[in-house]
Order: sequence, then structure tokens, then C-alpha cells
Amino acid sequence: MEKRATFGSKLGIILVSAGSAVGLGNVWRFPTEVGANGGAAFILIYIMCVLLLGVPLMTAEFIVGRKTHKNQVDAYRSLSPGTGWWLQGAIGVFAAWFILSYYSVVAGWTLQYLISAVLGRVTTMTDSAAYFTSFTQSAWMPVVMMAAVLLMSHWVIMRGVQGGIERYSKLMMPFLLLIIAVLVVGSFAMPGTGEGLRFLLRPDFTKLNGGVLLSAMGQAFFSLSVGMGCLCTYASYFTDDAKLMKTAGSVALIDTTVAVMSGFIIFPAVFSVQEVAPDAGPGLVFITLPSVFQMAFAHAPLLGWVFAVMFYLLLLLAALTSMMSLHEPVTAFLIERAGLQRRAATSVVTLSCIALGTLCALSFGPLKEVRFLFGMTFFDFFDFISAKIIMPMGGVLLSIFVGWYLPKKLVIKEFTNNHTLRFPRWLFVSFFFLIRWVAPLAITAIFINELLF
Ligand code: TRP
Repeated sequence: MEKRATFGSKLGIILVSAGSAVGLGNVWRFPTEVGANGGAAFILIYIMCVLLLGVPLMTAEFIVGRKTHKNQVDAYRSLSPGTGWWLQGAIGVFAAWFILSYYSVVAGWTLQYLISAVLGRVTTMTDSAAYFTSFTQSAWMPVVMMAAVLLMSHWVIMRGVQGGIERYSKLMMPFLLLIIAVLVVGSFAMPGTGEGLRFLLRPDFTKLNGGVLLSAMGQAFFSLSVGMGCLCTYASYFTDDAKLMKTAGSVALIDTTVAVMSGFIIFPAVFSVQEVAPDAGPGLVFITLPSVFQMAFAHAPLLGWVFAVMFYLLLLLAALTSMMSLHEPVTAFLIERAGLQRRAATSVVTLSCIALGTLCALSFGPLKEVRFLFGMTFFDFFDFISAKIIMPMGGVLLSIFVGWYLPKKLVIKEFTNNHTLRFPRWLFVSFFFLIRWVAPLAITAIFINELLF
């Protein structure tokens, strides 16, 4: 049998996982959620969700993948032969495929905006809302852009685990972090810094309720990519000396830092040109920011151009590395289960996602009237099923599988790399407590609360 691929280095392992985590969720969704849900109060709850649910669940996902070195379905099957647990893997594969389809649509928007920014249109357009609407509602461009970003991801995934995913993550991630740093500094130099920071950091505890808790948890899961087996697939390429808990911690730290930094970039910039709290919603980075870039840099258009290009490049890079982590689980499944060659498997995923993505892309325009249950469009429906239903369910099942089903000995053995790593006892005790009790109960409670109320 051919030897299965692995990632080549520990840095590579952290960068690919961080690449998966850092995405549109951080730059596009997080600042919006913070703005809508009480500023710093939300950030605090978010950080609690990351520490108490995100990191343990990510470690659990790593354990399943690294232990078995298999695609998700076979990973669960080999750890629990003769049971139905393989379904958990199968659902994860489906979810990744679904998320990739609609995620690519928004990733396509970022490509469109990057191109417009380079051409100088973002910094000269007169009505950014009209531009956004006419672009997203048109019948061609959103589809073309969606297909283009999928082909970029395709290009990387086809080159395999080390030569593709790891190589390009190592190129893209440091660049992405550099852009963030430059933009934060730039944004702090704007006149609206004080207002923006106050908006972002003022804790408004009156806004807190069950719904906010759900938003924070949903945001944490989505942003860390947990609950769908994407990281399980990546972990199946980890080497046996990779430190799982430490990797999960580093990824969570990078991810949260990027999210908060994105807020630091966006809000000071927004407040430098307007006094009122900005529109929360998808319009923030596609409608509000273009006019901010123009107004804030009215006297230095070249600087505005640089700022806009860097910002949309950041969004595109973040989206691409996340797309890779959604592309690979489905591809690995097809290679190892259906016996396809990597090239063929990658193509099947890319083409099918272009087909599904077309439905999602058009659901802002020509297919706007096609509605599913609760009046959702294709795009909303894909988002709802994967982010609101499958992700919490996946989280609960994952915590039950690793916390209750797998023998504790096996989990500890993976956790400690076959007893070569030393951990203080409280860490195991907390890990098992969180994964056995806190994670399943908290996620279920919040999930039911969401569905019923
Ligand atoms: N975490 C990514 C983001 O923040 C999105 C993502 C990539 C994801 N892989 C995932 C979300 C797996 C859920 C599951 O944008």
C-alpha cells in the first residue's frame, strides 16, 4: 500500500490548521457579531466559548484524526467497528461539501472586490450600496467569481497534502498575518480610533441573553472550524510527534487574535468618517468600508487605494485557506473510499461545488424567489443546515464519542503522544470534565433554546 501523506513540520501543522480557522468568519462575521451583540461583553463570552468548548473539541477532533490517519468515515469506523458512528464522519463530509458551496460565493465577492480595488473602482465608486446590490444580483459575475475561487482551491488541493496544502498555507498565512498587522497600525492612525475602540470594547451587559450566548458559541465553532471533521481530516496528516493540545491552543490564539484585530481595523476606520454606529450585517465590509476608504483618504487617494487592496487581499487569502480545509475532507473521502485518484477526486468536488455554488450565488438575484422552509433562499438554507444544525450536532456527537465512547486510556495515550508528554493532572481532569459534561450539555441546551424560541 502507498504510504499516506503527512505534513512535513510542526510549523506547517499549526499554519494549515490556523489557515482553516482564520477565514471570512474572523474578518467578515466576527466584527459584525460584536457590533450587534454588545461589544466587549460579547467578546468576553466568545473567549469563554473558545476556551471551554472550542479548544477541547478541537483537541478531540485532532485525537480522532491523528489516531487513525484516515479520512473521517474510516476514522470513525475503525475506532468503533460494527457501530453506526461512521455516520458522524459521513455527516461531516456532507457538511464540508455544503459549506464549501456557499462559502465560495462570499469568497467570490472578495475576489470581485479585490479586482475592483486594484482597478481603483472601490475607491472611486459613488454609491457602494448600489454597486454591491447590482453585483450580487447579477446573473453572471457572482457565478464566475465563485467558480474562480473554487478553481484556486482546486489547484492547491490537486497538488496534495505537503506539496499543496502545506506549501501554500506556509506562503499565505505569514503574508496574511503581516497584512493584518499593517492594517491595524494604519487604522489606529485614523481620527476615529477612540470612537471605534469604544464601540468595540465598551461592554454592554444589557444586551446579553440566551440568543447572544448561542451567537457566541456558533461564532466560536464556525471560526475555529470545529464540529465538522475538517480538522479531523487535517489531523489525519499530522505526524505522531505533533502536540495536539498545544496545536489547538495555538490555533485558537491565532484565530481569536485575528478576529479581534479585524474589529480593530474595521471600527476605527468606520468611525473616522461617520458618527453613528455602523450597519451590522454583511454590508459592513462590502458596502460601508468602500465608502470609508474613500472618505477617510479623500486627501490621500493613493493611500486609500493601498488600504483597500490590502484589505480585500486579506479577505481573499483568509477565505482561500479555509476553503482548502473544506475541500480536502471531501477529496480525501473520495480518494480513500471511492478509490479515485487525487486529480479525479478533486475535480469531482470542485465541479459539484460549482454546481451547488451557482444555486447559492444566484439566490441573491435570479433565484431570489426560490424559497425553502421558513422562506429561506438556497444560500440561507445551506448556511442554516450546516452552521446552525449540523455544526452543533457534530459538536455534541464528537464530545460524546471522545468523552464517553472511546476508552479513556486511548484518549490519554493520544493526548500525551504515547506518554512522552507530561501534563499536570488538572489538565486531564478539566479536559475530560469539559468534553464529557460541559460540551454536550451546553451545546444541547443552547441548541434547543435556539430551535424552540
Ligand atoms: N473557520 C473558517 C472561518 O472562520 C470557516 C471554516 C473552514 C469552517 N472550515 C470549516 C467552518 C469547517 C466550519 C467547519 O471562516
